[in-house]
Amino acid sequence: MTQLSSDDLREFYSAGARVMTRSLIRELLKLTRRGGMISFAGGLPDPATFPVNELKHITSDILDKQPHLALQYGPTEGDTNLKDELVRWMGKDGIDVGRDQILITSGSQQGLDLVGRVFLDPGDPLIVELPSYMAGLQVFRSCRAEMIGVPQDDAGMRTDLLEQTLARLAREGRRPKFIYVVPDFQNPSGVTMTEERRRMVLELARAYRSLVVEDNPYRELRFEGTPVPPIMSLDRDGRVVYLSTFSKTLAPGLRIAWMAASEELIRQFVTAKQGVDLCCPSLTQAIAAEYCARGHIYKHLPRITALYRTKRDIMLRALEREMPPGVSWTKPEGGLFLWVRLPEGMDTEQLLSTAVEDEGVAYVVGSGFHADGGGKNAMRLNFSFPSEEHIEEGIKRLASVVKKHLPAAYAREPSRGPRSP
Ligand SMILES: Cc1ncc(COP(=O)(O)O)c(C=O)c1O
Repeated sequence: MTQLSSDDLREFYSAGARVMTRSLIRELLKLTRRGGMISFAGGLPDPATFPVNELKHITSDILDKQPHLALQYGPTEGDTNLKDELVRWMGKDGIDVGRDQILITSGSQQGLDLVGRVFLDPGDPLIVELPSYMAGLQVFRSCRAEMIGVPQDDAGMRTDLLEQTLARLAREGRRPKFIYVVPDFQNPSGVTMTEERRRMVLELARAYRSLVVEDNPYRELRFEGTPVPPIMSLDRDGRVVYLSTFSKTLAPGLRIAWMAASEELIRQFVTAKQGVDLCCPSLTQAIAAEYCARGHIYKHLPRITALYRTKRDIMLRALEREMPPGVSWTKPEGGLFLWVRLPEGMDTEQLLSTAVEDEGVAYVVGSGFHADGGGKNAMRLNFSFPSEEHIEEGIKRLASVVKKHLPAAYAREPSRGPRSP
């Protein structure tokens, strides 16, 4: 029997499904399974950081002592013990919330989906950074919202341009539902937003009666420098929705993350989540709660950051050594990614097939992170997953692709090195 073709099926799809694009990252991850490939394309933690022994003990204790809870449905809002741990955890960053201001989600990705479901109707404007988190853009696109990009520099979102954008929208009688930012070691650029800019984002959101969605999965992965207060810690009127996750600090396979917001907003997100999955897995919530309660998380974080700092340094040194003039990159103080810019006119999408097929090295093209289709000469590199040897070798391969395609004008130009995205 012949199967219904994609054209046959298209007429059944909702308008939202029809605008869904396949994630470039996921498509690329398929290629990286080929032998000999070095991939800077994913965003995976190094599996060497997974605290397997502690998790084994904790899981066994939970199944011994409370199997009737850990294997049962739980409340949609999430496990109370875990929420209490998170109240303490966020308190260290100045985020002052109560248990009822937290919703546990199946990864922050689900949090973003709930944000889309609760706030966005087709055509609604919202503000995103240029560049911004690709799978976040994917959610907002599937809501058929209008994403308006505001460029970033090495201090984060350009708030002067944000103000101009908000003023223009106001003149048109429109206002964005929210401003979406990833303020710490941003995915994809690695840039951290300064405190001044964070205050300004909040002030502008207040002035133009919008909300802020602060997506913060990398905050704990700081290698150096001083932590900057989360935007939510500066908020006094319940304008910020905060998202964070155990994916980068513990293990993404647990699929445990959380949202924090005003009680009113959390009630709305809970209602939306009830239609999605009823509740998060009780077992992995209990594991995450116990991991925090036993204090393991505090000992674990310095081990992860030490490993990723070393890998970042190896990548930065390799870029410095291998890349030709005209190429620049960010120097993130934490997180998993850095952002490389090739000279204007070069196209990382065109280079990708040469990189993958001829040189066996993969990256993510910059345009996937740009709501306005820009970023063609940029690429995102991940340094947490590849081994130290692969980082050295992969950058060598990448530089060889870039050198082959470099415009002649850059052959002798001296400027290169860490630079804003
Ligand atoms: C900015 C950002 N938000 C959300 C997520 C989703 O994380 P989770 O594994 O918690 O769904 C990621 C994952 O890479 C991310 O980089």
